[in-house]
Amino acid sequence: NCHTTEKVVAYKSVTRLGCTKQMMLVNGQFPGPTIHAKEGDTLLISVTNLAEHPLTIHWHGVKQIRTCWADGVPYITQCPLQKFQSYTHRFRVQNQTGTLWYHAHTSWLRASIHGALIVQPHQNYPFPQPNTEVPIILGEWWNEDVEEVIARALARGGSYNLPNALTINGQPGFLYNSSAADAYRLQLQSGHTYLLRLVNACMNFALFFAVAKHRLTVVKFDSAYVVPFTVNVILIQPGQTLDALLTASHQRGRFYMAASVFSMPNSSIIPFPTIPATALLEYPASGGSSPIMPRLPSHNDSSYRDYFEAQQFTLNNSNQLLLVPRTVDRHLFYTVGYGLASNHSCPPLPTCDGINGNRLRGSVNNITFNLPTTARKSLLEYGYLSCRGVLVSGADFNLSFPDQPDTPFDYTGPPPPRSAWYPEHGTRLSAIRFNSSVQLILQDTSILEFETHPFHLHGYSVYIVGKGYGNYDPATSPASFNLINPPLRNTYGVPSGGWLALRFVADNPGVWLLHCHLEIHTSWGMETAFFVREGNGQDQSLPSPPRDYPRC
Ligand code: C2O
Ligand code: CU
Repeated sequence: NCHTTEKVVAYKSVTRLGCTKQMMLVNGQFPGPTIHAKEGDTLLISVTNLAEHPLTIHWHGVKQIRTCWADGVPYITQCPLQKFQSYTHRFRVQNQTGTLWYHAHTSWLRASIHGALIVQPHQNYPFPQPNTEVPIILGEWWNEDVEEVIARALARGGSYNLPNALTINGQPGFLYNSSAADAYRLQLQSGHTYLLRLVNACMNFALFFAVAKHRLTVVKFDSAYVVPFTVNVILIQPGQTLDALLTASHQRGRFYMAASVFSMPNSSIIPFPTIPATALLEYPASGGSSPIMPRLPSHNDSSYRDYFEAQQFTLNNSNQLLLVPRTVDRHLFYTVGYGLASNHSCPPLPTCDGINGNRLRGSVNNITFNLPTTARKSLLEYGYLSCRGVLVSGADFNLSFPDQPDTPFDYTGPPPPRSAWYPEHGTRLSAIRFNSSVQLILQDTSILEFETHPFHLHGYSVYIVGKGYGNYDPATSPASFNLINPPLRNTYGVPSGGWLALRFVADNPGVWLLHCHLEIHTSWGMETAFFVREGNGQDQSLPSPPRDYPRC
């Protein structure tokens, strides 16, 4: 089945909180239009850029089996679309169903360019059929142009402005007078069930989400079925998607759904919008009754996080077969966290906005990733050609990314010596043998500050086999691993002051970005990439690039 759709990205003026500005939008909508597909479909999605800013679109969570060309990462898998350029992304949605999403992957454009991609399964759901399915896109509204926010933050080497409000389906909601009239509303019919398809499209916030007086049964997480569990409050990291059932169990009344920030313990460093975004659920004939607000945990309630995550197990049945790797061919240990750049001149001022006048950085294994923005080919194309024995010059990357940090320290103990605070810079990738079984430990560090980093690996869903606080210990930590029904995700919050253990089989050739989905951290270089090299057999190799593949 082929499913063709056209998307045009152009400027449009949008008003929220009484403030009007030009935004780059998909087909004039904020959030962008929902794309519907059926399991097994081949999608042909043509994207045309009518705006000045270079653009790529990424299909977040789509595994892109042998279609890395369509993954939409600037300079990694394609050169960005310049004004008036188009590209038709071709990929098949197979072996995954549910809520996925798409977003811009250049600069901070994803603040306005994003939408849901919903894949319907052939089989029935392994839970009661809902009466209605509703995409709920959680996002942000910025009074300022986000491109100016990030340009200034990078020039100043540090602090950045924050959004003026959180949004539900593009609207701040009822707690903001100037926007209350436009808030999102959903009419409920008593006795019906609703499948809420949640996407956290926020740039920099994990979110709590709840509906007053209605419990939510989580049935899917990042497009994988989970053993259903019922909670009052959902926690969703930026980049994650989650499907939850809501039963309209009341006869009448008006109830808010609301989203609020889950932030780092020490929020004095980054203030955030403290007013939740709201939307309204109304039963018929309930006009006039005043809406009830749900209870949300406080912003730093990490015990709620542990409670919520402890209930997450992946469903293993005929809808979805789990194949958790039991053996490991390749052990990777990556520290993730902050850093500082020692070159701290921020003209016209002599100092930058980071700690002690330095420039803030992100790093993985103490390496800050430099996006090769002057490349003449994407890294993928260089890789593809070199796999075929074609010698190409001008590739400004190498495959030397270390399997563990060069200089280990006590990652979660007292802050390490200042010398460890200055990551080196480079475009270093890790070469992974096709079909090898990989274990990746992501370890948070105390450099500057602990934080929950929502890491995302392109091209794969991975099993989260373990999680812990403190330092990962290869001798003792694996004893607690769940190799039976662990969470299966494409985005995973590394606990602040702790670690996560991931496993996957590298069965998808290509160049796959691994990065923190807090956009400011990505901008600071908290990313790297895997180069999964093709095997020898026909079925193992990457097809050649499509004819309209964007060149630099
Ligand atoms: Cu949702 Cu690399 O992104
Ligand atoms: Cu991060």
